[in-house]
Amino acid sequence: MTEIKNPTKGSPWGYAPAPESSDHFKLKDQYGLLIGGKFVAAVSGKRFATINPATEKVLAHVADAGEKDVDKAVRAARTAYEKVWRKMSGRERGKYLYRIARIIQERSRELAVVESMDGGKPIRESRDVDVPLAAAHFFYHAGWADKLPYAFPGKAVRPIGVAGQIIPWNFPLLMVAWKVAPALACGNTVVLKPAETTPLTALLFAEICQEAELPDGVFNCLTGAGATGAALVKHSGLDKIAFTGSTEVGKAIQKSLAARPTKLTLELGGKAANIIFEDAAIDQAVEGIVNGIFFNQGHVCCAGSRLLVQESVEKEVVAKLKARMAHLIVGDPLDKNTDIGAINSKAQCDRIQDYLKVGQEEGAELFQTNCPIPDKGYFIRPSFFTKVAQSHRIVQEEIFGPVLAIQSFRTLNEALEKANNTPYGLSGGVWTDKGAKIFKVTRGIKAGVIWANTFNKFDPASPFGGYKESGYGREGGRHGLRPYVELS
Ligand code: NAI
Ligand code: MG
Repeated sequence: MTEIKNPTKGSPWGYAPAPESSDHFKLKDQYGLLIGGKFVAAVSGKRFATINPATEKVLAHVADAGEKDVDKAVRAARTAYEKVWRKMSGRERGKYLYRIARIIQERSRELAVVESMDGGKPIRESRDVDVPLAAAHFFYHAGWADKLPYAFPGKAVRPIGVAGQIIPWNFPLLMVAWKVAPALACGNTVVLKPAETTPLTALLFAEICQEAELPDGVFNCLTGAGATGAALVKHSGLDKIAFTGSTEVGKAIQKSLAARPTKLTLELGGKAANIIFEDAAIDQAVEGIVNGIFFNQGHVCCAGSRLLVQESVEKEVVAKLKARMAHLIVGDPLDKNTDIGAINSKAQCDRIQDYLKVGQEEGAELFQTNCPIPDKGYFIRPSFFTKVAQSHRIVQEEIFGPVLAIQSFRTLNEALEKANNTPYGLSGGVWTDKGAKIFKVTRGIKAGVIWANTFNKFDPASPFGGYKESGYGREGGRHGLRPYVELS
């Protein structure tokens, strides 16, 4: 393992701490389940704690929903669907979505701080990416609510009913928005299950729905772990399941729905290739590599976790990448200077550490910066592997952490061959000065999203989703409305 020094450490030019305050709101000690417009305890009375992964301190206790709670929530959603929401005009529905979008903006500071405290992501990202994009998603879908016949010309458009939605911990509030906004815009009602390590912004969102006077039961929120998710999937009262998370759980859900009419969309893992050609603007490409793998600690399904760099510029790119990585600050997620926050949970931190070991055992060479990291909490320094083979597990499997695998290539076809040599097909990146190469690469890679000379850019108007083991169905754009409507 080679290491280089962090030039800001001990230097007079280092950054002073710039923590965002958390005294402008107060978290409750306990949160209930939102069922039929009211916060209620779980029938079993069970609760669990959610911690701050940067401090390992408990932030709040939330209800642990079981089968009975799932049944109550699905019934509430069904009643709201039949009695209120499906009958309401798109124009009226749209007003509620606009209201929700505006309240997200009004409460953006609180939402950003809670997101960073509960999940570990740097405040700069929750403040500038997660929360604004969540609001944008509601604004965008509010616009569609009364225009659905224009999204599907010549068709009669109807909602599908009650949707069960299960989301992960890497973009907790943004995934609420991705799931809930299109469902409500199209006239469906929702039972949402946030991830067990990051329930708080979904619960604040539940408060926002109350504040917006969304009719009772249109949005229901059940906190809990995998068992709660499994109970939701098992419930026969749902017309649709939408899941974002691991490929393993996605496959299990697909199996359990196999003999049922329940519709399903899956947004699963990824192992994207970020391809740098020798004619690329190398400095910009290096920024793109950093953004591709270190954004959100690498807990990103579309992360550029495999770097494919043309052999003639490999040395230059790796040297520049090392120099750039030495400036990355790992630490307090609430500090505005922090580039890489806390790993979301101990389990995820252990999983990433395992991959760091596995990579070395397989014969790859590990590089990590030696920036200081806090003593408490779950942190991992930005890392990459060189001397990797296509068959290595660190090249084939989703690590979901700040760990990049670097490979080289000589020809465009070799790059495509390597890029496609994975069970996943979610995203990709290409860096080149030549437009023709961009088109060749984007056509040649089987993936839902491919960025050219940029990476990790999101917009509610742009559909997102995968091929192969990355799942199916799209979220965002006109394509993202399709899984929430019946057409005739
Ligand atoms: P996970 O797939 O277990 O968790 C995602 C969501 O599914 C959570 O809300 C969880 O409570 C729920 N869930 C778990 N088991 C379930 C079941 N049997 N039925 C219904 N819902 C269930 O992911 P986990 O274990 O937290 O992370 C493991 C790996 O999965 C990560 O290292 C990463 O590689 C991948 N992952 C990928 C994500 C993506 O966005 N593509 C998101 C989260 C994890
Ligand atoms: Mg937490």
